[in-house]
Order: sequence, then C-alpha cells, then structure tokens
Amino acid sequence: MQLAKPLAALALAISCLMAAACSGSAGKEGDWTLYGLDSNEQRYSPLEQINPDTVSRLGLAWSMELPPQARSMQGTPLAIDGTLYFSTSLSKLYAVNASDGKLLWEYDPEVGKEHPRALRTTQQGSRGIGYFEGSILLATLDGRLVSVDAKTGKPNWVVDTIEEEKGDTRKTITGAPRVFDGKVIVGNSGADFGTRGYVTTYDARTGKQLWRFYTVPGNPADGFEDETQAMAAKTWSGEWWRWGGGGTVWNGMTYDAELNRIYIGVGNSSNYDPAQRSPEGGDNLFLASIVALDADTGKYIWHYQQNPREAWDWKATNEMILTDMDIGGEKRPVLMQAAINGFFYILDRRDGKLLSAEKYAKATWAEKIDLKTGRPVEVANARYENGPVSFYPSQLGAHNWQAMSYNPRLGLAFIPVLQQPGKYWTTPEKVKEAEAFTLGSRHYEFALGSRFSLVKLDKDDGTGALLAWDPVAQKARWTVKYKTGWNGGTMATASGLVFQGTADGWFHAYDAANGKELWKFNAMNGILAPPITYLADGEQYVTLLVGYGAAAPDDPGWRFGVHMPRVLTFKLDGKAKLPSAPPPSFDVTPIDDPSFRIDQASAARGRELWLRNCSICHVPGGANANYPDLRQSAMAQDPEMLRKIVKEGALSALGMPQIDELSDQDIADISMAVRDFARRAANGDTSAPPGSRLF
Ligand code: HEC
Repeated sequence: MQLAKPLAALALAISCLMAAACSGSAGKEGDWTLYGLDSNEQRYSPLEQINPDTVSRLGLAWSMELPPQARSMQGTPLAIDGTLYFSTSLSKLYAVNASDGKLLWEYDPEVGKEHPRALRTTQQGSRGIGYFEGSILLATLDGRLVSVDAKTGKPNWVVDTIEEEKGDTRKTITGAPRVFDGKVIVGNSGADFGTRGYVTTYDARTGKQLWRFYTVPGNPADGFEDETQAMAAKTWSGEWWRWGGGGTVWNGMTYDAELNRIYIGVGNSSNYDPAQRSPEGGDNLFLASIVALDADTGKYIWHYQQNPREAWDWKATNEMILTDMDIGGEKRPVLMQAAINGFFYILDRRDGKLLSAEKYAKATWAEKIDLKTGRPVEVANARYENGPVSFYPSQLGAHNWQAMSYNPRLGLAFIPVLQQPGKYWTTPEKVKEAEAFTLGSRHYEFALGSRFSLVKLDKDDGTGALLAWDPVAQKARWTVKYKTGWNGGTMATASGLVFQGTADGWFHAYDAANGKELWKFNAMNGILAPPITYLADGEQYVTLLVGYGAAAPDDPGWRFGVHMPRVLTFKLDGKAKLPSAPPPSFDVTPIDDPSFRIDQASAARGRELWLRNCSICHVPGGANANYPDLRQSAMAQDPEMLRKIVKEGALSALGMPQIDELSDQDIADISMAVRDFARRAANGDTSAPPGSRLF
C-alpha cells in the first residue's frame, strides 16, 4: 500500500487535478493547510503510510498537556512544514514542533482581559484557524481577526470584524476563518441573543476589508445595503429588525475554486418564535439557508432554504462538502450537507437546485422534502401552534459542527450522528419575556419567544453513531453505534481508513469500506475534535485535540480541572506513554454547612437568575465538563466574593465573564441558590437540581 516517495507525490498531484477544488490548497505535499484539508472540505487525506495493513502499529509519538482553561478542544489543527498550529478556548494559539511536540511559541489575544463581557454568550471554544503565506489567521472570541507570523508568533495586523457593534458584545467568533484566493472570510455567532448575522471578507495579506454580506435584512428605514437585502426583506413582516433577525454564520463556509464562489451556512432565527418576529408570515430569508456568493464581490448568486420560517433553532451551519457526482445519469458539480434537521441535502453548485434530500437519521418533524418546490412537508403541529410537541431532532441536530468527511473513491460520507429528540413550545409568558429581555436592557439573556428542551422518547435517545452514507443512493452503507451521543468529527484517508474519537475518550480507526474497527486508543478524556494527518520529515503523523464539553447533552464523567485538555500525536510504532488520568467520575464533594438556614424564597429567585445568566456554562450535575461545579466552590457561597467575580469580572482572564447588570440582591439570591444546590447534593441527590439547566 505504501508508495515510494516520488510516486506518492505524483499520486497527490494527480488526485489534486481530479479534485476540482484542490487549487484552494496552498501547502506542499503532506501538509494540512486548510480547515477541511482542501477547500472542498472533504477531509480526505491522500497519505497512505497509515493504512488498513499498518494501522494496528499506530502508537503515541508525543502528547502535550494544556491548562484546564483550554477546555473543550474543538479545533482542527494545521500542519505546515513540520510545524503544528492549533487554537484552544479563549482563542489561544499555539505552535509546536510536529514531530516531537516541543512548544515553539504561543499567542494569547487576552480576550478575557480585553472584553470581559464578550465571554458570556458562548462556550468559548475555537474550531480552527487559517494559513496564508507565512501567517496564521486567528478569529478571536471577541471578534478580532489577527494575522500572526507563523515563525515568531508575533501579530502582523489586527482588524475588528464586529466593529460597528462596539459595546454590544453579544456577537462572538468560535468558527474557523477560511482562506481562499488571497482572501479570508469570517462569520460570527450570537443569533440566540438577538443579533443580525453577516460574513466579512478581508485581504489575507493586509487585513483590508473587501466585502460584507448580511444574512438577514436590517431596518428598511436605514436603507438596504443592496438589492439582495431588499429581496430578502419581502419575506419578513412586522418589525423583525428589532429582534436582530439572527442568521449568524458560525461554522460552515466552503470555497468553490472551480466556480469562484463561497457557500455559507446561515444560522437560526432571532427571535425563535416566528409569530413574534415576523407576525404576518414570510419565509424569513436567509435563515437556515445555504447561500452562494461571488468570491470576489460577495454578491448573492443563489440560495436554498432548508427550513422556511425557521421555528426550532435549526440552522444550515453544518459543514458543506463539494464534489462531482453522477445523479440522474449526469455528472454534476454538487454540494452536500448532513443538516441539523436530519436530512442529507445534495444541491447542484451551479444554480442551487435541490437534487435530492433524504433522512439520514431520525427526523420526525417532516414527512419528506418536496423536490419540486424544495420545501419540507411538515407534520401536523410541527410549529407547536397547537401546544407543546416533541419530535426528532432537537435543537442540537441529528448532526452538528463535528465535521463529517468524504471518501470520493468509495463514494461515502462519514457522519457523526446524534439521536436526540426535542420538545418545542411557547407560552404567553415567553412572549412577554422576549419583549422585556431581547428588546430591553437585559438582552444578554436567552429569551427568545419559544422554549426548547431535550427529551427522551426511546431507549436509544441520547446515543450516537458513525454513519457511512452513500449520497448518490441516499442510503446507509454501514453504522457503528456508540452509547454516547456527542462525539468527535471524522477524517477519511485515501488508504481506506476513517478516524473518529468519541465522548467516552476512545480514538478509533475503522476500515472505510465496512466499518470494521482496526485500532483504538484510550485518550482518557472526551473527544469532540476531528483528527488531521500530515507528513513531517517524510513520516506520516495523526494529531488530535482532546477535551470534552461545549453544548454536550450527555455527561460521560469528565471533570473540569481533573481531566486535562491535551494534544495527542500518533505515528507508526510510536512508543510514548500518555500520562495517566483518573477514570471518569460522577462524584460531587459539595460544600455545605448543615447549620446554615437556606432562605427558600431567595434561592427560588436565585435559581431563575442562574438559569438565564450562569447555566450555559456552570451545570451542576457536571454535564458540561468545562467549568467549575459551583456546588464545590467556596467562593460561590460568599456573596461578597461572588459579587467581585460576577459584577467586577475578577476572574475574567480565566474566562469567567463580567455580568455587571445584576444587582447585589441578585448576586445574594444566586449565592443562596448555589447553597441550595449544594445542600441537595450533600443530602445524596447529586443529579442536576431542577431549575439549574437551560435544556
Ligand atoms: C460563559 C461561561 C460562563 C458563564 C455564563 C458564567 N461563568 Fe462562572 N466561570 C466561568 C469560567 C470559565 C470560570 C473560571 C474557571 C477557571 O477556574 O478557569 C468561572 C468561574 C466561576 C466561579 C469561581 C469558581 C471557583 O471556585 O473557582 C464562580 C463562583 C462563578 N464562576 C460564578 C458564576 C455565576 C454565579 C454565574 C452566573 C451569574 C457565572 N459564573 C456565569 C464561566 C462562566
């Protein structure tokens, strides 16, 4: 299987010629220079030293332990000329020697110190970085785009990509910037807090802004930015702009080198309730849509909307893979996406025409997608207009940002799948709350008109799978089932392997043809990130970032400060040993003084404030491995200390946001709620207390 070196180079060059979009890749042989390896985002490596015959010899070459603040490790590293670059939570950037893990430099944009309020609306992860001619492009949590010299780690230039919203820190960046044709494009997050989405493209050399595209229209009184906004505005009604509109582009962006286009995956609505945000109807473009833009000018070319009049926090933000495919007897340039809503969509890249859409996972909200109109045929009460309704999937999706990969030779897409239904409803109180919070001064709170939660309808709910999907036939070819649901991204190789890590801390390699497990490694911490593979000094390496959390619906027992985030690098016959880590644990050691009298009225007020202000990060019950469990925190029980931490931002350098609109009484109530949570645990109830989790 292993080719001699010149031959391998030739094979690579040929496979580049065949892969339409390979010209988007800047690297030399064996480098991993773009987020999805090539700009078509297939994550399909041509390297063959590690193959089904040799993979059993794969062993650890080196590992690197990171501080707990690196938290959920979501990123795709880049490997360029023997150096490995990766970003972690709080937008920190590292460069290490790829063959031995020696630290070369680190760059810290100090988002906590610079913008302590910007930390509050996000899980603070970073999914990746870009590379252009000797510089690394990093998009920071607080919205900066930084070009960092790849040799020295010193910044070349910085631009603020959310400039016009200074002081309004609801917008953040967790996604990877994409580099194409001398340019770099960035999106952002924040739809859940009432913002308006857009993507912006800069000159990768200088940071000069080239173009911006808004994903939802603004207030007509301010004038529309272009004719596309005017067209989109016809699909909205009422005073939608007051809600922000949403549609943030926080993950999927794919460059089509052949057609010179950028495809963006547009996010969910803001406010979630269509009756409130657009009361007289309308599809609300470009929510939950894939939009094609001219790569030079940002001009709109076409769109396909997956969920007209979005109502479930569903988004078209999953990665989009480009390839050519025989469909209906014709070879077509296509884009494919395994969408949040459970359908696998194939579009013709030339005009956005929907070629096929089938369920790749449990999706009970719609019967099918009508190929003539391109619209879903929704089941009765899908929009919870007649009261609460539960169906598959939940707002976490049947698949989310954890990347799928594609093997064009086998014609198989490898999808991390989550089986998780959701309950959807709204109430007059939610509607009022949205008015008060989203439009009022407390606009950082999740108050978006509708209410969603995760539910269990079937014994397999909450479990996951690696699904090998044949997109032409729209059929599953093989499935590996996992007990955990929120697992890692995937990577495919031309040698016939698929790699994926899982929430329980195992890193697996499978035979891509049939799903047979060929190798596995115990990483001793949960895995979300996709691996990469590359050559350094002619030898093939595999690198994976390890660290659990983010919006994980399950709790595999990984704990903040106990299970450290790590970088693991493997090679054939690698003999390094991973420093051992304690097994997963569900133990809590609550701090409780039994003589302290809990004021139940204060604790009840505190729970309500907790739910809105703290629970996206601190989850008692531990389901989120990235933050301290405050039942174990003495500081949380001391209202004065808590006031310093929450209102003054005393721990912002560590990622604890400054939340300064809370009153001293609010803080005292929250402290009381924490005492109550701790008391319950001390009395033997260690599950997440009622009112402590948002979903
Ligand atoms: C966006 C995420 C996020 C939100 C929201 C958040 N926190 Fe934190 N919190 C953190 C992080 C990160 C740390 C620091 C962890 C570390 O030590 O590195 C932290 C630390 C703390 C600590 C110190 C715990 C200890 O003993 O070390 C307290 C107390 C605390 N938070 C209270 C709160 C309260 C109360 C709220 C809501 C009003 C809140 N936090 C909201 C992320 C968050």
